[in-house]
Amino acid sequence: MNKDSRIYIAGNGLLGNALYQHLKLNGYNNLITRTHVQLDLTNTDAVELFFKIECPEYVFLCAGKIGGVLANSKYPVEFLYDNTMIEFNIIKFSHKFNVKKLLFIGSNCAYPKECSQPIKEDYLLSGYLESTSEGFSIAKITGIKLCQAYNKQYNTNYIIAMPCNLYGIGEKFDKENSHLIPSLIMKIFEAKKNNDDHVIVWGDGTPKRELLYISDMVNACIFLMDNYNSNEIINVGLGFDMSIKEIAFIIADIIGYKGVIQFDTSKPNGTMRKLLDSSKINKLGWNPSISFKYGIKNMYDWWVQNDCKSTNK
Ligand SMILES: NC(=O)c1ccc[n+]([C@@H]2O[C@H](COP(=O)([O-])OP(=O)(O)OC[C@H]3O[C@@H](n4cnc5c(N)ncnc54)[C@H](OP(=O)(O)O)[C@@H]3O)[C@@H](O)[C@H]2O)c1
Repeated sequence: MNKDSRIYIAGNGLLGNALYQHLKLNGYNNLITRTHVQLDLTNTDAVELFFKIECPEYVFLCAGKIGGVLANSKYPVEFLYDNTMIEFNIIKFSHKFNVKKLLFIGSNCAYPKECSQPIKEDYLLSGYLESTSEGFSIAKITGIKLCQAYNKQYNTNYIIAMPCNLYGIGEKFDKENSHLIPSLIMKIFEAKKNNDDHVIVWGDGTPKRELLYISDMVNACIFLMDNYNSNEIINVGLGFDMSIKEIAFIIADIIGYKGVIQFDTSKPNGTMRKLLDSSKINKLGWNPSISFKYGIKNMYDWWVQNDCKSTNK
């Protein structure tokens, strides 16, 4: 990519927006984006017309219907159908309109539920998926396989990153649809505000999560777009994970909450562990640089200053 390249960032959520801001700040002056309202990526005709008019050279595929356990179990159709359609449309028209390179954002959720840890790239499709997010995972695997099929059949350069869980500034703080970190921040913040002596967290606190700060993921995306040209998927992770209990304690410490954190064992734990083996990307020269405590503090300060009052709490 050079500063004048026509770069389409599909999706302007946590990752897409951070990527856009970073590229803009660094002088890339031909960035193309559309909001969901402006362009529904499940609409094949609209996506074709968009590619025909805009002719992007590089595509970051960061759009999709994303959510936690609750949303995944409530809307299995959208998680499977919308995500598959978005991928089909963007990948198909990237080929038709001669995109030079595409980065498909996969997910650690695409790996089997029971995997040796840390998870290596070649464990994909080696076992059953986590049932609570099966539709989402199948859509991701479909996107991966479609990129690889285009590369094989048409000699395209569609690369695939497999990130661990992401968090950071710009993330949705919403009671129903939030990921782990915003939902813990909201719960603990509210408990502190109300002087509650305890706060309840779903599950028994033992599942572990690997969490990468968003600016590290942005750097990894640009690093891969500039340096990686392989048909093989590549993991992008922090390199270690923490239990939900440890994560909740760190957040409570940053917020200054002194009450008790209780775990509701009647609620599902979700996936127990999904630590990625990121040695492949590390060997190529990318490494994360933001510590978990620093990332959480940054995100919390941002939320308090910008969003806290308008959050759906
Ligand atoms: N966040 C994580 O922890 C994580 C972990 C691993 C992998 N990933 C992957 O990283 C990518 C980006 O995730 P993210 O966290 O940035 O997600 P996000 O914040 O939910 O952003 C997704 C974006 O896609 C848009 N979108 C959804 N359906 C659309 C449609 N039909 N047409 C047009 N736009 C649509 C959303 O718009 P609306 O919000 O307006 O609908 C939003 O802008 C995804 O592929 C995700 O699977 C994320």
